[in-house]
Amino acid sequence: MENLFTLSVMFAILLQVLPSCAVVVFTREPVVEVHEDAEARLSCEFKTQRDESPRIEWKKTKGTMSTSPDFVYFKEEFRKSFKDRATIKGATVILQKVTQGDAGEYRCEVSAALDDIQLGEANVTLIVLVPPHVPTCEIPSSAITGGEVEMLCSEPHGVPAVSYIWYKDKKPLAVHPLNGTYSINQHTGTLTFRSVTKADTGQYHCEARNKAGPPKSCQGTHMEIDDLNIAAIVAGAVVVCLVILLCTFFICYAHRHGFFSRHRGRSFWITQCHSTAHISSQNLHRTEDMNARYSPPPEEKQQDFKHTHSFML
Ligand SMILES: *[C@@H]1O[C@H](CO)[C@@H](O)[C@H](O)[C@H]1NC(C)=O
Ligand SMILES: *[C@@H]1O[C@H](CO)[C@@H](O)[C@H](O)[C@H]1NC(C)=O
Repeated sequence: MENLFTLSVMFAILLQVLPSCAVVVFTREPVVEVHEDAEARLSCEFKTQRDESPRIEWKKTKGTMSTSPDFVYFKEEFRKSFKDRATIKGATVILQKVTQGDAGEYRCEVSAALDDIQLGEANVTLIVLVPPHVPTCEIPSSAITGGEVEMLCSEPHGVPAVSYIWYKDKKPLAVHPLNGTYSINQHTGTLTFRSVTKADTGQYHCEARNKAGPPKSCQGTHMEIDDLNIAAIVAGAVVVCLVILLCTFFICYAHRHGFFSRHRGRSFWITQCHSTAHISSQNLHRTEDMNARYSPPPEEKQQDFKHTHSFML
C-alpha cells in the first residue's frame, strides 16, 4: 500500500515537473505473481497531454518461443492464445486462466500522436507460481566408515525455485551444524559427508519447499555404515567374480577365433557348440577362396556352384 502511495505521489510530481507535452506510462505492479489457472492483472496506466485516444499495444518481450517480441494486444485486438481469455480496461490487461506458458515479461506501449513525446512504456513481469513436485532423491543404502558420501535431492519444477531440507530419522538436519560431520546446500539439495561414521547410520529423506504450495518429500532410504573389513570381504568376492568373468570371456574369445577348431577331431563337442553364424562365416571364406582361384563364374554357373556347395555340406 505504502509503495503504491509513493508511486502515485511520484507520478503526480512527474506530471507537474514535465515541461513539455508528453505521454506518461507507468504500472502499479511491475511484478505479478499468480497461481496457475488464476486471473492475472497486468497493470498499465497512462496520462497524455493532448491526445484523447492514444494507441495502446501490449507485447510479450521475454518467455516467448522466438527472440522477437510477440504481440499480445495490437490494433485493439488480442492475439493468438490471448484471444478468448483476455480483456482490457484502459490499458490494463486482465488475463484469465493463466498457464505456465504465460510466464514472462510484458511491455505496455502507449503512443500519443498529438503529444510532443509520443511514446511511453511500462514493463510487467508475470510469474506463474508452481508448487513443489515430489523431489527425486539419491541416497546410498550403504557406505564404508571414513568414506565420502554425497546425497542429492532434486525438484526442478517449482516456481519460485524450491529450497531443500534434509531429514535423518524424521528429524531435520541443521544447515549449519555445530560439530556435524556433514554440510548441506539448501539451494542445490546436496548433503555431503566428508567422512561418515557409524553414527551417521539412519533413515534419510529430503523435502522440497517453496511459497507456492505445500512441501513435498521423497521416500526415505536407510543408509548403513559398514566397517572396512566387511567391505574388504565384499570387495574380495567381487574380484573373484571378475576373474571368473574374465576367464569365461577369454574362452569365448578363443572359440570365436577358431583356436579350438584346429583340433576338430579331438574336440568335436566344442565345434558343435559353435554358433551357426560362425559356420556360415567359414563357408563364406571358402567361397571367397574359390572365387579367388577361379575367374568369376557367369550367373548360371554361380547358381550351380551354390547347389553343389550346399550339397557338399
Ligand atoms: C522495459 O524493458 C526493456 C527491455 O526489455 C528496456 O529496454 C526498457 O527500458 C524497459 N522500460 C522501462 C520503462 O523500464
Ligand atoms: C560437539 O562435540 C563435542 C565434543 O567434541 C561434544 O561434547 C558435543 O556434545 C558435540 N555437540 C553436538 C551438538 O553434537
